[in-house]
Amino acid sequence: MTRLTLAAVSALALAAAVGGCTTAGSDMPPLPASATAPVSYVRDVHSYARPEIARVHHVDLDLAADFAARTLSGQAHLDISGEPGATEIVLDVRDLDIRDVRDAAGAPLQYVVGDAREFLGRPLTIRFPAFAPGERRRISIAYSTRPEAAALQWLTPQQTAGGQQPYLFSQGQAILTRTWVPTQDSPGIRQTYSARITAPETVKAVMSAEMLTPEGEPAGPGMKAWRFRLTNPVPPYLIALGIGDVAFAPLGRRTGVYTEPSRLQAAAAEFTEVEAMVEKAEGLYGPYRWGRYDLLVLPPSFPFGGMENPRLTFATPTIIAGDRSLVSLVAHELAHSWSGNLVTNATWADFWLNEGFTVYFENRIMEAVYGPERAMQEQVLGWQSLQDTLASLPAADTRLKLELEGRDPDEGLTDVAYEKGAFFLRTIEREVGREAFDSWLRGYFDRNAFRPMTTELFLADIRQHLTGNDPTLEAALQMDAWIYQPGLPSNAQAPVSSAFEPVDAAARAFYVARGPASAIPWSGWNTQQRQRFLTWRPESRGGADWLTTAQLAELERTLGLADEGNSELTFAWLEVAVAHRYQPAVPTLERFLLTQGRRKFVLPLFTALWAEGDWGRPIATRLYAQARSGYHPITTGSVDAIVGVPRG
Ligand code: BES
Ligand code: ZN
Repeated sequence: MTRLTLAAVSALALAAAVGGCTTAGSDMPPLPASATAPVSYVRDVHSYARPEIARVHHVDLDLAADFAARTLSGQAHLDISGEPGATEIVLDVRDLDIRDVRDAAGAPLQYVVGDAREFLGRPLTIRFPAFAPGERRRISIAYSTRPEAAALQWLTPQQTAGGQQPYLFSQGQAILTRTWVPTQDSPGIRQTYSARITAPETVKAVMSAEMLTPEGEPAGPGMKAWRFRLTNPVPPYLIALGIGDVAFAPLGRRTGVYTEPSRLQAAAAEFTEVEAMVEKAEGLYGPYRWGRYDLLVLPPSFPFGGMENPRLTFATPTIIAGDRSLVSLVAHELAHSWSGNLVTNATWADFWLNEGFTVYFENRIMEAVYGPERAMQEQVLGWQSLQDTLASLPAADTRLKLELEGRDPDEGLTDVAYEKGAFFLRTIEREVGREAFDSWLRGYFDRNAFRPMTTELFLADIRQHLTGNDPTLEAALQMDAWIYQPGLPSNAQAPVSSAFEPVDAAARAFYVARGPASAIPWSGWNTQQRQRFLTWRPESRGGADWLTTAQLAELERTLGLADEGNSELTFAWLEVAVAHRYQPAVPTLERFLLTQGRRKFVLPLFTALWAEGDWGRPIATRLYAQARSGYHPITTGSVDAIVGVPRG
């Protein structure tokens, strides 16, 4: 591995000191010492940037949203430093129209936009007079995004709940920020940011940053501007923007929710425990370092369940179940405020450091707020989904440390990072004891706050601070096997939940012994037990059909599955229905696929339909032709590869 060390330490230390000052008077604890220490860069195969020569420290955006043209246009001012003698900086851009690049005095700078590589976009190389030691400069790029920018989804009023105002939102992870912000788009190059966003006065802009103008400012006829700043340095995939008719409801002292006015009450009722989650999280692993924790509940086309944008988690409306049963997703995105946003995977090959730690931490929050029984249920569901994932992937993709050279990270980032990563950490916890593990993990977040982390640095940290040089413990942990070998090492332990015993018994009685659906004690079960029931599969199911049409009809009727309001349960039922070519569920399927665009639901269902040949393919083709224009580019990018792009 090439490791490159930044020499311009003094410039970096200066920046950090300035960053620390600007937080004074705000609601955030000061940056820890680790944030000012020099950073070494690991080669990121998904960025053209060469930060060891010149790097971005701060992004200042001044952008206007044009909903008719579907563009953001304006300027990105970048504060940069360079090695003494450096005469160029390389940025990542994709589908951006660059108008010009200027220095701080407004004089034009030479620039070259290089050739595009698939999914990486192009290098934007900007030339300037040689850097002096310790120097900082500002360069300004005038540009516009394109309507097809993969990070952005522009919604018509009809695609929103209110139906009156258009909507725009961004999704940066993994390498999409470069489709709307020209910067060094690598998770190892942390940047502070500020922004001024101009939009029609009938909508409101929110960002993953401190809101400086809650009411907006006049910005010409019919327009308003909103200003933001984030003084904690973040990887660029965490720069995020939402614009729409959104209202706000407080949840607690430092927590709240934004969403469209007609959904606000339901959202606020679903998230009453968020403030408690923040408190429990802090109790576990140290101070929440971002000031506020708010949620933005997006329109139903949001392609993910949640996205951990700092200070403002973006979430799918499909987690609003009406009974708070899916709030572990909030615990997950909140946990990223430590694992991911504070200590960040240096490259996408180390993605498990973000997601595996986060699933572990998420479950600890769930345990602290809802008790160990609920937490165990979620672990068992995670274990089951891990088994399915391991069975479906090529062995090489079941390692924690990934090899993503030449691949789109969007395709290479799987459930393995999440669930195998979390079970790895639980294995360590079991071997060393919870107390020792927790104190190590808290220290890990403090020591490495605001810094990129590699798998190798993680191993060094845990060996230095937790496991020491104890060869017996090393052998018991099998850390290298967990990280570098496919599948699960021999010390992996399946979690057990006693709450699932009656569920499994009922499942055997119905699925295997073909007992009546009326014997299923459905109404006495919580959502996790119901999920367990609907995802239960007989050991030897000998082909896909383990249920008769009569059984499916009975199940659907008795459990009310055609009218199920919980998105996870509807999804689990539809997976069973499609695998059996169960025609009566097609209207439910149609409604589900046409009213939300979460890739985790949409992609498996289209994939399952496609696998059902002459039955499923015509359904898939018909539904995709209707649904595609409402989906986000991230979702269509995946489904196109299965169903193809509809004609006409
Ligand atoms: N950071 C991820 C979402 C993500 C991962 C976006 C990789 C782009 C590339 C987020 O924290 C996440 O994991 N969301 C999950 C929900 C979570 C509860 C497992 C999702 O969206 O389903
Ligand atoms: Zn996550």
